[in-house]
Amino acid sequence: MAKQATSRVDKLLSSMGYGSRSEVARMAKAGGLVLDGVRLSDVTKRLPVTADLPRRMSVEGAALDPVAGLVILLNKPLGMTCSHKETGTLVYEILPERWRRRSPAISTIGRLDKQTSGLLLLTDDGDLLHRVISPKRHVKKTYRAKLARPLNGTEAALFAAGTLMLEGEEKPLAPAELQVISPCEALLTVTEGRYHQVRRMFAATGNHVEELHREALGGLTLPDGMAPGDWKLLDEAGIASIFADGSADPMHPAP
Ligand code: URA
Repeated sequence: MAKQATSRVDKLLSSMGYGSRSEVARMAKAGGLVLDGVRLSDVTKRLPVTADLPRRMSVEGAALDPVAGLVILLNKPLGMTCSHKETGTLVYEILPERWRRRSPAISTIGRLDKQTSGLLLLTDDGDLLHRVISPKRHVKKTYRAKLARPLNGTEAALFAAGTLMLEGEEKPLAPAELQVISPCEALLTVTEGRYHQVRRMFAATGNHVEELHREALGGLTLPDGMAPGDWKLLDEAGIASIFADGSADPMHPAP
């Protein structure tokens, strides 16, 4: 059985963004840390870092934040960016301010364009991030696209063929599935994550995407009623559902 990781209290809280180790020590001295109902004053104490710590520990009267290994499901609003390289408000600003100082850092699992809304995952779990974005895993991503012009009827076969070459690229796109909703609206499911992929696919057919929203990642969808800008932590079942759409996950093969 894997050995349970332990951490000094000051190091743990500092890595969770609560402040420097000396700030955490001051907090403890002032009575701000409580573990299992008892005031915790020795911040050099080592604790097993378990997922139940937020239920057992409070910091200045509030439950401890989730420990490392968190996965966040966000309904990304239009106009926010996933990359520090782009101008605009970063999606990280939706999360509690302290979480931007966590180590390991929280990053988005793949990216959505500034003008794309919908399902976006963020995590501090590097292994999970790579499992989801790895081209070998073929995790499906489903987008709802609203188009400037009516579909011409050839798109589904073209996208499914696995031969479409995007401008400036040398490898054809993997087959993708188009479901027509109305003349100017479709659901497109792709297994890759190339730059502006969906917009470029429709551009290759002479059309233009006016609105783009990601509805699903693998078997995971946004919960009903989750408004743009809302987020929640994913539990084990939520995480497993990413790989529960037939997408391969060799790290965690089906039994
Ligand atoms: N394809 C795009 O063109 N944009 C996105 O944000 C995601 C997929």
